[in-house]
Amino acid sequence: MEIITKNAKETFELGRKIGSSLMGSEVLAFVGNLGAGKTTFIQGLAHGLKIKSKIVSPTFILMRQYGDFYHLDLYRLEGDVKKEVENLGLFDILQDTKNIVAIEWAEKIKDNLPKNTKWNNLPKNTKWITFENINEDTRKITIDE
Ligand SMILES: Nc1ncnc2c1ncn2[C@@H]1O[C@H](COP(=O)(O)OP(=O)(O)O)[C@@H](O)[C@H]1O
Ligand SMILES: [Mg+2]
Repeated sequence: MEIITKNAKETFELGRKIGSSLMGSEVLAFVGNLGAGKTTFIQGLAHGLKIKSKIVSPTFILMRQYGDFYHLDLYRLEGDVKKEVENLGLFDILQDTKNIVAIEWAEKIKDNLPKNTKWNNLPKNTKWITFENINEDTRKITIDE
């Protein structure tokens, strides 16, 4: 599915709609340049999930937890990225069937995310969401089916 948004609010709203439709465990993988709107979308997502805290960009922090919702930003990770996220406990977090996990720059750990596989005996797949800058305020957002 491809959606064009014309400002940050529309991207937030799209995230909110998707957040309010999520049923339990999900892995959402975000791809796109700096400033493409990934965090804006995730702020909407958290709103849709009824998370009260303000979601801030975790670019300097790697991971933040809000109850069962986890927000990661791998932008700054280099080298053995798999090892780094393993040390953060990401793979245990992914195994926990109640968690919803949103990962910015997820392509860095593409091969380590669940793909039509069973984690903890439950089917799990990663939903990929890609952002492209069309111009200053227009973004093309592609959500994998
Ligand atoms: N259509 C749009 N969708 C999302 N953000 C937009 C859009 N148009 C302009 N912006 C601006 O682009 C920036 C997106 O920042 P952010 O969501 O932090 O991006 P990322 O997390 O991908 O680096 C914000 O300053 C936002 O106001
Ligand atoms: Mg961001």
